[in-house]
Amino acid sequence: MCGIVGYVGTEEAKDIIIDGLRRLEYRGYDSAGIAIVNDGSIIVRKHVGEIINLEKLIGNEKISGNIGIGHTRWATHGAPSDLNSHPHLNEANSIAIVHNGIVENYIELKAMLKEKHNVSFKTETDSEVIAMLIGAYYEGDLKEALLKAVSIIRGAYAIAAVAADNPNELVAHRKDAPLIVGIGKGCNFVASDFSALVKHTDDVYLLENDDTVILTRDSIKILDANEKQVQRTLMHIGWSAEAAEKGGHEHFMMKEILEQPAVVKETIKRRLNEDGIIEFDEIKIGLNELKSFDKIYIVACGTAYHAGLIGRYAIENMVKIPVEVDVASEFRYRNPLVDEKTLFIAISQSGETSDTLAAIKEAKGKGARILSIINVVGSSVARESDDVIYTWAGPEIAVASTKAFITQIVCLHMLSLYMGRLVGTISNRHYEEFISEMLKMPEKIDEVLANRSEIEEYAKDLYSREKVFYIGRGLDSAVCLEGSLKLKEISYINSFAIAAGELKHGTIALMDPDTIVIALATQDKLYEKMLSNIQEVKSRRAHVITITKDKNRSISDSSDETIYIPDCLDELTPLLSVVPLQLFAYYVAKERECNIDKPKNLAKSVTVE
Ligand code: F6R
Repeated sequence: MCGIVGYVGTEEAKDIIIDGLRRLEYRGYDSAGIAIVNDGSIIVRKHVGEIINLEKLIGNEKISGNIGIGHTRWATHGAPSDLNSHPHLNEANSIAIVHNGIVENYIELKAMLKEKHNVSFKTETDSEVIAMLIGAYYEGDLKEALLKAVSIIRGAYAIAAVAADNPNELVAHRKDAPLIVGIGKGCNFVASDFSALVKHTDDVYLLENDDTVILTRDSIKILDANEKQVQRTLMHIGWSAEAAEKGGHEHFMMKEILEQPAVVKETIKRRLNEDGIIEFDEIKIGLNELKSFDKIYIVACGTAYHAGLIGRYAIENMVKIPVEVDVASEFRYRNPLVDEKTLFIAISQSGETSDTLAAIKEAKGKGARILSIINVVGSSVARESDDVIYTWAGPEIAVASTKAFITQIVCLHMLSLYMGRLVGTISNRHYEEFISEMLKMPEKIDEVLANRSEIEEYAKDLYSREKVFYIGRGLDSAVCLEGSLKLKEISYINSFAIAAGELKHGTIALMDPDTIVIALATQDKLYEKMLSNIQEVKSRRAHVITITKDKNRSISDSSDETIYIPDCLDELTPLLSVVPLQLFAYYVAKERECNIDKPKNLAKSVTVE
């Protein structure tokens, strides 16, 4: 996914922008570039491939200037190449722009620009038309020219622009693509994602659709769609620069796995008042509206979808409203039965997943109330939602989601407790007991993490196998899906998750001595049923690793290896049982020498359908 960083201040813009681009690397990109206003002209340097290539290209060249823009590109229109990389310049090389999104009518605009303004295009991109348009309209006022340009562009865009003859002003605009303004001391920023700014500021303005911002080093002027000056919400993000660094760990993924006790604690703490009552200041749904919902949809992709499956159990148990869980890419193509009596819950770490966004729009169009659970503040999903619950997991850099998943589950539990208490479907005693058990979870996750060397040993023995099955029942089957996804995405092993009761309906045919079966048996009510399933695969000579509660010591006779998690409420076991699965995937991928933080073919934010 493309990334934008813009800076105006007193320091060398080049260094600040390149550092910001590095912090956006995790989102995936295929080229990078910068444009710096320098002594009445604009210096552009761009290169295909990683940011290191751009840095090598610049080498010791002195590119001085206190204002500039930078971009990481994920090719859509035009192959990844030096030429197609951003920033793009106008005909006279006096305006530079970076762009995220898509210009839908670029062919028609190109023709118009060629005919009326006699410009010649150098790239295959849609974005170059923006530079050419601004250049054609520019008469000394960059904001005016940008506004004129966007008035005839169709599509989705976040744009940042600088002009060679104005070294004091950076102008940006957004429509259906994220863009935030970072408030610095003696400097200001724009960025597509807060991670780019984490080293410089903690305070941001979230721009709304059709906002334009004019930045100088000591002023920020935001104009709305009617060009009226407005004040936007100031958000204090509270992410430390260290949170986005590896902090001595070999991989972000391991760092993020180890952060899980702390982020679970934080996610709970932010909503629990002094009397132990859950408060969601972010939710504006009143009691009457809550009572009016006759159905809840939870819609998400990948790992977030797995959190949704766990959320269904929590909400149906606590709130007694039927919940359907759907993958976002399927939801809108099946004409879902959504209306004003539907609560639609979207879950997304990035808040930028295009399938999830499209599903939200579908549900919104049919009158549903949209509540989202997301990690990245100010992201597009947040903007499309009526209510937003932030997971407060901090920056998640590794492509494979771990700590975001665990905080999504915590938020879903808290939401179901909150709603259940409000509508009166749970007793005070149950409510209090559940919260008290939840508060013990960070410590219990720590206990699981403390045994990670055991899992590392299993991974060392088994990493070369090519077939892994995850089996479980009830909540465990949702965790199995997540464990299997983690393994396949970072180790490229063909793994498969199945509800254990389904095995005998076909899949058991695949069991043989080369197969690893990871069996989750954490649910008290289903424990004996799981024992039978374990026997079934064991008798086909599969290698079985069982994950179960501490109290179930006798299971070790039926498994090759057993991983124990601390005893806890059945409902809360996913917060513990997923951890060994994350660790197993990590250690296996490490043994197989895979690129753990950036697996092949995957990006952190999936902004294409
Ligand atoms: C897997 C993973 C993906 C994401 C999915 C949705 O580790 O990270 O499956 O969960 O692409 O992304 P978000 O949560 O950003 O909407």
